[in-house]
Amino acid sequence: MLHGKDLVSIRDLEKGDIELILRRAAEMDKALGTGKPIEILKRKIVATLFFEPSTRTKMSFQTAAKRVGAQIINLTSVESSSLKKGETLADTLRMVDGYSDLIVIRHAAEGAARYAAEICQRPVVNAGDGGNQHPTQTLLDLYTITKMKGKLEGLSVYLVGDLKYARTMRSLLYGLAMFGADVTLVAPEGLEMNPGVIKEAKERFGAKVREHSAMELGGADVAYVCRIQKERFADPYEAEKVQKTFRITMDALRGVKDDLAILHPLPKIDEMDPEIDKTKYARYFEQARLGVPVRMAILAEIMGA
Ligand code: NCD
Repeated sequence: MLHGKDLVSIRDLEKGDIELILRRAAEMDKALGTGKPIEILKRKIVATLFFEPSTRTKMSFQTAAKRVGAQIINLTSVESSSLKKGETLADTLRMVDGYSDLIVIRHAAEGAARYAAEICQRPVVNAGDGGNQHPTQTLLDLYTITKMKGKLEGLSVYLVGDLKYARTMRSLLYGLAMFGADVTLVAPEGLEMNPGVIKEAKERFGAKVREHSAMELGGADVAYVCRIQKERFADPYEAEKVQKTFRITMDALRGVKDDLAILHPLPKIDEMDPEIDKTKYARYFEQARLGVPVRMAILAEIMGA
């Protein structure tokens, strides 16, 4: 049961909760396809507080809220709010808690969503806290993979890119582990997944994980790629150095499985040859669209509709 609960980390969810959201997302997806009205959250107000840049997560949450009939209040920027005058995040959160029925927050500080959840009475949904977690992205990734491949168990999923700083990858590793996928981690040197995260994924969720240094995608059913998270590097020149050398070229797609799906949380920058967009493997724009039904399902489950 998710009714009234916060969604801070994918680790807080039971497998059954995730299955419920995936089923509900499939219903929403179908209803969107047929144009059937789904206004089950009329009179509810969703607050979107994004203190870090966002295109997809913010817009798909706002679209999802509108599709289920809810209204949005939005803190557009720190510059235009009283945070600019020096108001604390805690006080800002207390206000928004009194105005809305559910709060979606993205913040650069790891643990920010957990902090918000402690302050607010209303359910808080983490839309990304620094390099830590991004649970709604993982739910949409699990939905996308299940929709495209029909299953998660036993599937060979490669996580490719900046595994050190990308919250999408951390969250997804836990999610894939819960559902028994075989995970291969491929990272540029120095940007490997935190060993503590791998250990937890293995010990708590029985993750099947191997690490691979070469860009070799031959065995993958799904290659999930992410960009170098430049904004999280202490030294931006270091990030630029990796950005120049880490790239998935058309060559890397030689010998891949015929039905390989390349996914990406987006935005993509230099880590993939843009020619890949034109191949049948590129499925990331479809994936981005699925953010709407999945976030509709999340809002409906948490707000008890
Ligand atoms: C990701 C994020 O913000 O973590 N984007 C997203 O939410 N779709 C990925 C990224 O910024 O690289």
